[in-house]
Amino acid sequence: GTTLGAAAAETGRYFGAAVAVNRLSDSVYVGILNREFTSVTAENEMKWDATEPSPNQFTYASGDKLVSHAEANGMRVRGHTLAWHQQQPRWTAVLSGTALRNAMLNHVTQVATHYRGKIHAWNVVNEAFADGGSGARRDSNLQRTGDDWIEAAFRAARAADPGAKLCYNDYYTDGQNPKSNGVYAMVRDFRARGVPIDCVGFQSHFTAQSPVPSDYQANLQRFVDLGVEVQITELDIEGSGSSQADSYSRVVSACLAVSRCTGITVSGIRDTDSWRSSATPLLFDGNGAKKAAYTSTLDALNAG
Ligand code: G3I
Repeated sequence: GTTLGAAAAETGRYFGAAVAVNRLSDSVYVGILNREFTSVTAENEMKWDATEPSPNQFTYASGDKLVSHAEANGMRVRGHTLAWHQQQPRWTAVLSGTALRNAMLNHVTQVATHYRGKIHAWNVVNEAFADGGSGARRDSNLQRTGDDWIEAAFRAARAADPGAKLCYNDYYTDGQNPKSNGVYAMVRDFRARGVPIDCVGFQSHFTAQSPVPSDYQANLQRFVDLGVEVQITELDIEGSGSSQADSYSRVVSACLAVSRCTGITVSGIRDTDSWRSSATPLLFDGNGAKKAAYTSTLDALNAG
């Protein structure tokens, strides 16, 4: 393949980007998006604060724009995200207990119903595990509604959109460590009890301090062995030149070596579009030119 999307498609995978909907009016941005990518994820526009700014009042205009763009250009849409402790609307701050649980479940149901049939995979729950060595759930307002909040969210999402793959998504879970062990135990438990979960997303935000782990592929594989698909969902790698290019290549090769690693999404298009632009972590520079990391990514996709 001569583009990321075409090369990934040769092994049945997608290659996606996180998209900021307000940049769809930037012709350089859209040109790269349409040429290279076969899946899109809304960077912010499908989150709780964006879609339900007041209780039970839903605003889908921005998310719908992205879905229309994807449909017009033959791209899939990854939904992000139904339940997360961040980017909640202000009105949830005064809720707790049953009231917050019900608000969360209504949110999941309404949003997943609105987008039914249009989303290939939903990040149903995002970042629910704690950093560090505990392997435990993260303390949050949602967690304080009871440990079963995650499975309740997955059941509500399945009921609303039975055709979407339902994923758990997190960061610092890319290698085997206490946090990924915690997620692994949850997924194993969900599979054993028939809680509907189809996939696990590995955000894969890498930095100098937190590089691609040596057991990245083995970690993806152990999740696949539980019966779920895996996807790389927010890939970005701090750095430049050949070291950044090598790291991208390693990530892509790891995914291609795992048969049920079904797609890769990078967390933006140009370095200047990144939520951490000073890390220059993406595949295109601020002018939209291909970086060394682009070439190594394309080569790794074509080697699969
Ligand atoms: O919408 C307001 C706008 O009205 C206001 O004028 C502007 C002024 O700063 O802020 C806008 O909100 C910003 C929003 O992005 C949309 O641009 C928020 O301040 C800003 O915090 C928010 O950042 C997002 C961040 O999540 C929030 O945690 C990033 O764009 C987004 O890339 C990032 O993505 C997350 C993934 O969803 C999950 N994994 C981690 C990743 C980084 O936190």
